[in-house]
Amino acid sequence: MPALITPTDRLHVSWMSACDEWPPGAHQSGTGLRLAPEADLADPGVFSAWVEQLRQQSDTSEALGEERVHATHWWIVEGDTYLGAIDLRHRLNAVLLDVGGHIGYSVRPSARRRGLATWALGAVLPEARALGLDKVLVTCDDDNVGSARTIERNGGVLEDVRATEAGGKRRYWITL
Ligand SMILES: CC(C)(COP(=O)(O)OP(=O)(O)OC[C@H]1O[C@@H](n2cnc3c(N)ncnc32)[C@H](O)[C@@H]1OP(=O)(O)O)[C@@H](O)C(=O)NCCC(=O)NCCS
Repeated sequence: MPALITPTDRLHVSWMSACDEWPPGAHQSGTGLRLAPEADLADPGVFSAWVEQLRQQSDTSEALGEERVHATHWWIVEGDTYLGAIDLRHRLNAVLLDVGGHIGYSVRPSARRRGLATWALGAVLPEARALGLDKVLVTCDDDNVGSARTIERNGGVLEDVRATEAGGKRRYWITL
């Protein structure tokens, strides 16, 4: 049975083995890796500091600048095995409204096509509702069939496909 948990340095070894499955430099959506662009996450101390950063992103007692938004991060796990990540941005700024959306996710390559992304997105929707949102924007690349299906399976209604520097972006709204 999968579960969503708050990121923890207890799963460092499993997280590292998942990371090894990705091609070098691949964008792991919804992981918060952008917070540690040059960090050596193989180092347990550096990993712990990054995990703490992830956890702090949801701390709404800390005011953020206009361009930054609070976000809650979860890991998709089975027992002590890391399978993927999903995050929920608490509000949209201009860039998120245009391309990024409220929710990002990724599943480690060896755990794909088992319904995990569909399950994880479905599990985060009530969390979004609990934050007071009545609909969420979820986006994916126009050619990302797996992500598009994940969103559609969770009730996503396509608003448009926007041209970006990196190609077309499908923008879906899910009513909560
Ligand atoms: C996209 C991604 C999250 C899907 O994760 P997953 O756990 O394999 O997805 P699921 O098993 O829940 O599959 C969801 C649906 O997409 C389909 N699907 C998944 N991957 C697919 C692929 N590569 N090609 C075609 N269909 C695919 C599944 O068959 C399923 O469809 P169904 O419900 O009609 O049977 C995963 O491939 C991934 O992490 N990719 C890289 C990061 C990424 O693209 N993140 C999303 C950014 S918006």
